[in-house]
Amino acid sequence: MDFKRVAVVMAMEAEAEPLLEAVGARPADAPAWAAALPCKLYSAYEAGLELMVAVGGTDPFTGVDCIGTQAAALATQVAVSAHAPDLVVSAGTAGGYRRSGAEVGHVYVAWPRIVCHDRRIPLGGFDAFGRGEHPVADLRATAAELGMRSGIVTTGDSLDESTADAEAIAASGAEVKEMEAAAVAWVARLNEVPVTALKVISDLVDDPAPTPEQFAANLGSVVLILRDAVKALLDRLGPG
Ligand code: ADE
Repeated sequence: MDFKRVAVVMAMEAEAEPLLEAVGARPADAPAWAAALPCKLYSAYEAGLELMVAVGGTDPFTGVDCIGTQAAALATQVAVSAHAPDLVVSAGTAGGYRRSGAEVGHVYVAWPRIVCHDRRIPLGGFDAFGRGEHPVADLRATAAELGMRSGIVTTGDSLDESTADAEAIAASGAEVKEMEAAAVAWVARLNEVPVTALKVISDLVDDPAPTPEQFAANLGSVVLILRDAVKALLDRLGPG
């Protein structure tokens, strides 16, 4: 499966920075219609691939990185419009589960779908929309060759896991909890572009230690794993 043009969508500056440096990425222009949006675009060549990295950017109203589904959807549409990719990758950190055998630093590639866990809409006919399930490109073989795990990725707009979230996540069979992939997948699917998600575990949701503390303690090391994992995947997917 050779791809030629890939867009990688990332949320936090700290997640993207090591990858941008490793691939020698340069700032790229967003389309004129996207001038008011916070996302930042970068382009690079990697393993024969034309690569665009779209990062959520800084929220002008609060001054922090735009994490979560809103900015991820915008960044994905901007990247798709600017780059016309043949694959979109949602890349970043995520929570994992001890009950699934996950450890901090494990790398997951989404399979067979990306879902949502916090869109509770008990109105007739809205169930499937709320679950927000989207299929992903079948990269299982490549993931296995690279020593990466495969699993269902679930998205919500909160870092914590409420009781209702926990029930939805257990029911979906998801092994990876994060805040962007389903939005990226929805926009990629609207544009008829195949999508995947590559997530590095930065914290264990079912560990007694608070998630924010785990995340802060592990971020510096897992973004380097993320850099290497995204590069390794691109090196396999490109024409070489
Ligand atoms: N990103 C990193 N860890 C996460 C978690 N536990 N939940 C949601 N998003 C995350």
